[in-house]
Amino acid sequence: MEESSFGRLVFMLCLVLSALCLESSDKNSTASVYIVTLKNAPLAHSFGEELRRVGSRHGSAGIYRTWNISRSEGGKGASIVRVHESLLRNVLRGENYLKLYSYHYLINGFAVIITPQQAERLASRREVANVVMDFPVKIATTHTPQFLGLPRGAWRREGGIENAGEGIVIGFVDTGIDPTHPSFSDKSANHRYPIPPRFTGVCEVTKDFPPGSCNRKLIGARHFAASAITRGIFNSSQDYASPFDGDGHGTHTASVAAGNHGILVVVSGHHFGNASGMAPRAHIAVYKALYKRFGGFAADVIAAIDQAAQDGVDIINLSITPNRRPPGIATFFNPIDMALLSAVKAGIFVVQAAGNTGPAPKSMSSFSPWIFTVGAASHDRVYSNSIILGNNITISGVGLASGTRTMHKLVLAVHALNNGTTITDDINVGECQDSSRFDRNLVQRKLLICSYTVRFILGLSTIKQALGTAKNLSAAGLVFYLDSSVTSFQLGPTPMDIPGIIVPSPQDSEVLLRYYNSSLSRENVTRKIVGSNAVAKIVGGVKPMYGNTAPKVMYFSARGPDPEDDSFKDADIMKPNLVAPGNSIWGAWNPRGIGTVEFEGESFAMVSGTSMAAPHVAGIAALIKQKFPNLSPAAIGSALSTTASLSDTKGEHIMAERSYIDPDANQSPATPFDMGSGFVNATAALDPGLVFDIGFDYYMSFLCGINGSSQVVLNYTGESCSAYNSSSVTALDLNLPSITIARLVGTRTVLRSVTNVAGTETYNVGYMAPDSVSVKVSPTRFSIRNGETRVLRFDFRARKNVSVASFGKIGLFGDRGHVLNIPVSVIFKMAS
Ligand SMILES: *[C@@H]1O[C@H](CO)[C@@H](O)[C@H](O)[C@H]1NC(C)=O
Ligand SMILES: *[C@@H]1O[C@H](CO)[C@@H](O)[C@H](O)[C@H]1NC(C)=O
Ligand SMILES: *[C@@H]1O[C@H](CO)[C@@H](O)[C@H](O)[C@H]1NC(C)=O
Ligand SMILES: *[C@@H]1O[C@H](CO)[C@@H](O)[C@H](O)[C@H]1NC(C)=O
Ligand SMILES: *[C@@H]1O[C@H](CO)[C@@H](O)[C@H](O)[C@H]1NC(C)=O
Ligand SMILES: *[C@@H]1O[C@H](CO)[C@@H](O)[C@H](O)[C@H]1NC(C)=O
Ligand SMILES: *[C@@H]1O[C@H](CO)[C@@H](O)[C@H](O)[C@H]1NC(C)=O
Ligand SMILES: *[C@@H]1O[C@H](CO)[C@@H](O)[C@H](O)[C@H]1NC(C)=O
Ligand SMILES: *[C@@H]1O[C@H](CO)[C@@H](O)[C@H](O)[C@H]1NC(C)=O
Ligand SMILES: *[C@@H]1O[C@H](CO)[C@@H](O)[C@H](O)[C@H]1NC(C)=O
Ligand SMILES: *[C@@H]1O[C@H](CO)[C@@H](O)[C@H](O)[C@H]1NC(C)=O
Ligand SMILES: *[C@@H]1O[C@H](CO)[C@@H](O)[C@H](O)[C@H]1NC(C)=O
Repeated sequence: MEESSFGRLVFMLCLVLSALCLESSDKNSTASVYIVTLKNAPLAHSFGEELRRVGSRHGSAGIYRTWNISRSEGGKGASIVRVHESLLRNVLRGENYLKLYSYHYLINGFAVIITPQQAERLASRREVANVVMDFPVKIATTHTPQFLGLPRGAWRREGGIENAGEGIVIGFVDTGIDPTHPSFSDKSANHRYPIPPRFTGVCEVTKDFPPGSCNRKLIGARHFAASAITRGIFNSSQDYASPFDGDGHGTHTASVAAGNHGILVVVSGHHFGNASGMAPRAHIAVYKALYKRFGGFAADVIAAIDQAAQDGVDIINLSITPNRRPPGIATFFNPIDMALLSAVKAGIFVVQAAGNTGPAPKSMSSFSPWIFTVGAASHDRVYSNSIILGNNITISGVGLASGTRTMHKLVLAVHALNNGTTITDDINVGECQDSSRFDRNLVQRKLLICSYTVRFILGLSTIKQALGTAKNLSAAGLVFYLDSSVTSFQLGPTPMDIPGIIVPSPQDSEVLLRYYNSSLSRENVTRKIVGSNAVAKIVGGVKPMYGNTAPKVMYFSARGPDPEDDSFKDADIMKPNLVAPGNSIWGAWNPRGIGTVEFEGESFAMVSGTSMAAPHVAGIAALIKQKFPNLSPAAIGSALSTTASLSDTKGEHIMAERSYIDPDANQSPATPFDMGSGFVNATAALDPGLVFDIGFDYYMSFLCGINGSSQVVLNYTGESCSAYNSSSVTALDLNLPSITIARLVGTRTVLRSVTNVAGTETYNVGYMAPDSVSVKVSPTRFSIRNGETRVLRFDFRARKNVSVASFGKIGLFGDRGHVLNIPVSVIFKMAS
């Protein structure tokens, strides 16, 4: 059914496009995809009706009753679709247009191919709220191995969570999934493992995604590509017109969040231990809307999110960021963030990657306070490889490879060419891509030295191919030195199926070559160089070593402060919300995926990026949701935030890398703009003691409180700002578990309310004031029973005129062991 309607869509598209093409000799009538929003509220809004206006100042103390409301709204959904169709028929009678999607759950609107004139006519209709042209989005991609940090960081194993996450559904809006991967099998689920009855999603069936692909673990899978297809860039064989993952990214992140427990990781014949998702018993629903070759489009992504929410997922894990900041009054107003606001209203926790655009300030591309934004930090595991030269110098490098048992002679590739080859025949021959260029006698049983040039970074040469050359020539191993075309970059962990090493430092590469040069061996007659008497031994790097100082905020992790609007004014909202493991993360991979060259053909890959950090948090959120089914998305975010850790394995304050070049030499203590509340602590997040909650109404009041926003709010949500108490609500008034003041002129009072989700406890309130700011707290001590809410008051006063950000914190210390940390950031200060 899914399949046939999609087939029909493609078919119709061709007809319509050719008709449009005929017309397009007239330039002005070029058709494109537009997203049209109507003023009537979407279905998700009517579900929350009874919650409306029952909230206290900060909304309705943590409890989301929407959760239990049935989503069997079939009739209403169909009637919204009919309204869309009749509107189009009435306005565009007898003209060409093609509706791609009707959205009815989170936003009320549709995506349609029309001309600018037709768009204008639609926009002028009374019932139409907003017409925007579809825009591209990109995958917050895996940080490809070439741009990774050194292999540091780890798969953090959370013991004893084999049944963790059961009953929770995580929706993945990503590049799809490889359903055959053991991480998503339900065979290992030996006892009861029912599909949550409220989940109403379906599985598409296609040639790439045959019947039986879904099971009790992978319970839903669809793909969304209508907008991509209309642009002619979708290729159904390369991009897979199915939920099948042609990249590897979606498979990886789904396994990080919810992959099965105890899955043996084997790459290039080496064993790397067992993998497990953070919530290994959670269910997975896949909404593929992103594609390796071109990213994606808002119209498809919104369709995916709309469907996920309607199907009944508990958590949405999102890997997209807009290509550029959407134009408009504030960054918060764009169709995707608005759809996600509706998702939050429906009780769905939304996790988004901060982006891999760090370390510059304001490099954040996830803005809105209702979205939980996650940055990437390293872990304490290292795979270190090294090579010991015959002169006893040891050089360290990377490479997930075994070592050699003994010393072997070294031979530089350009000294091992066969009689028919010279460097002028093939100037790239030193990269070892073509075994037919070499003399086997000069290479066999030796360590072949090849050159790692910029062509590897560009994907023109690969390590896999060089490994093939070395194997064909029976070399004992492979050694890469860094060519001078590559000055400084971070090389990722690369699997090798023979002994091998990549020397990532220019200085060490020089040391290696100088030693090799020191004893060149020549042919007796011609005096041609045929190698060297220099010898070396590769130690190998498949054994993880722990004890590295971690976590550390990775240089690529995007940073705050959070920009509020087009003038790039700072928002009073802390971003990112926290950091999680996002460097060198093992996860399931699709062997047919093309997302990284190094792991092509493998079933697991070690990749890095904020994309890898976000699913850790999605998985932990599933555990929280399992333990506290009634917590709102804001309260789940609060549990994660207030319990985050601020110190590293050495007990020191977590550091942040501040430079792409030599990041380890350019680091300093992480601020809330680097790491938010800190590094996620799964154990502590499951027992937060108190939560800071925010009801949907409060987000609305906040949006309405933005100067000049009432029309945009109406346009996007169909709700009038006059219904909300907005005049006094600013971002600072949102009941976030953090306080961020972009401009402190004189004094400012900030209120926060906490709700007890544990037993009766007495808390002391402590603080560390930011530089040039004084803080007053009241009460300084309070007792609170389960379910009770307390308002805390903080008065901030600027003591000097300083425009450099300063940071402090507030701590709530319970007498039964709960500790909550609330980061405080003040940027501009003016004493009055
Ligand atoms: C789609 O990709 C396949 C395989 O790479 C290629 O053969 C085919 O020409 C492509 N089709 C279009 C329309 O580009
Ligand atoms: C890894 O998982 C296998 C089962 O898949 C199990 O037999 C083995 O004990 C596990 N090893 C570790 C170190 O957990
Ligand atoms: C290297 O070290 C070993 C043992 O430490 C020693 O026996 C050997 O002589 C050293 N070789 C050189 C070249 O220094
Ligand atoms: C290459 O030429 C040298 C002499 O010029 C000869 O000894 C050797 O056998 C030749 N090697 C091959 C593989 O033809
Ligand atoms: C290895 O040799 C085989 C056959 O001799 C050839 O087909 C293949 O391309 C070679 N591989 C490399 C990497 O040169
Ligand atoms: C090695 O020797 C060659 C000449 O044989 C020279 O061009 C090259 O610069 C030397 N490299 C190092 C690192 O000493
Ligand atoms: C060169 O001569 C030396 C000594 O005469 C001999 O041991 C060696 O095998 C010869 N090498 C080659 C490549 O013929
Ligand atoms: C989870 O979200 C992150 C970042 O938002 C993204 O990169 C990752 O691909 C997502 N995972 C899945 C399985 O959707
Ligand atoms: C994480 O939380 C647990 C429980 O509160 C605590 O024992 C542990 O020390 C915390 N870990 C870190 C790294 O802060
Ligand atoms: C709101 O915006 C308008 C026009 O942009 C401006 O005149 C007015 O001063 C602003 N009000 C506040 C309170 O910033
Ligand atoms: C809101 O919608 C109206 C009518 O479609 C449009 O004229 C106006 O520009 C929109 N305003 C904003 C701020 O999006
Ligand atoms: C708005 O706030 C005032 C005072 O804080 C309160 O009396 C009033 O009931 C609120 N109105 C709504 C619609 O919540």
